[in-house]
Amino acid sequence: MNALLLAGGLGTRLRPLTENLPKPMAPVANRPWLEHLVIRLKQQGIRHIVVAVKHYPELIRSYFGTGDQWGVTMEYAVEHELLGTAGAIKNAEPYLEETFVVVNADIVHYTELAPLIQFHRRHEGAVTIALTEVDDPSHYGVVEQDEQGRILRFVEKPAPEEAPSRLVNAGIYIIDKKALQSIPEQREVSIERETFPMWIEQGAGVYGKRIDGYWMDMGTKERYRQIHWDLLNRSCPLPLPGKASGKGIWVGKQCDIHPGVLLIPPVLIGDRVRIGERSIIGPFSVIGSDSVIEGHVRCAETILWDRCTVRSGTVVNRCIAGCDVEMGPQQTMHEAVMIRTEAMQA
Ligand code: GTP
Repeated sequence: MNALLLAGGLGTRLRPLTENLPKPMAPVANRPWLEHLVIRLKQQGIRHIVVAVKHYPELIRSYFGTGDQWGVTMEYAVEHELLGTAGAIKNAEPYLEETFVVVNADIVHYTELAPLIQFHRRHEGAVTIALTEVDDPSHYGVVEQDEQGRILRFVEKPAPEEAPSRLVNAGIYIIDKKALQSIPEQREVSIERETFPMWIEQGAGVYGKRIDGYWMDMGTKERYRQIHWDLLNRSCPLPLPGKASGKGIWVGKQCDIHPGVLLIPPVLIGDRVRIGERSIIGPFSVIGSDSVIEGHVRCAETILWDRCTVRSGTVVNRCIAGCDVEMGPQQTMHEAVMIRTEAMQA
């Protein structure tokens, strides 16, 4: 079975971080999320991965190439116009096997695919949609199912007392290639809004199977931050790069951390990071590789991507900074989301 990763969206809600980057390439714990995903799929026996790309396709293609380095074969289905989630699948049809898994590449999850695939083989529907349970269904489309797991309808943003369940589309599907025949070509089609309701109406067999394990989409800055906190407190068990040095502290290779630095866990530090005397880092902070933090800096609840510089005496609180951002000296930054301006104009 091969996998199709939908990675072409504009990621508007995560701007400016996605101004010059496809959202799935945003680092999660110092490594592009898409790379975590490829590694995880390979661990689950998927060896052939197709990526549906549109926004900055070259950044994805040049990073992964043929996939050799990850022990998989990777191919790219490029869109010239945004085709939407179903349009992107239709566009990738020539690359797909008879049954394939589709993953929204902006969903950070730690789940097993095998039960989903077994369920799909047993029921022989057009699609099996992975479902995840949410506390408050009123922001989502929840499903109503029969006893066999067949989805009868999606109820959009129901009031809590009217919700037929708390199960929502998790953005992971097992699809039968034959079902793609009914998706129109070369126009924008949303799988959630158009294709699934059409398949339900046609009786094509739209099933839902609950998945367990960590699940969160990185669509907004709040959730992007939350994913990092969940990784640092290990409620999301994805492996973290770096050596664990004390409880809740991970440090990468060749770092130069002054002995007078206070690291307050949980903290994740990339490779070749320098931190100057009397700086206090953490709690809940991620420092990208090759970053330089000078002395007397206070950095809390913050995510810095690679090669950031924080000049001396600067306070950085609840911020997210893209690659190569420079802050300070002697400034206080609070709740800021920053990227380098040249990057915005690129
Ligand atoms: P927003 O603009 O913030 O809504 O983000 P988005 O459109 O990038 O993401 P959304 O949550 O709407 O889409 C879910 C997943 O499908 C993401 O991984 C997107 O990259 C992907 N996606 C959405 N639209 C397209 C598309 O037209 N083509 C392709 N290839 N992927 C898409």
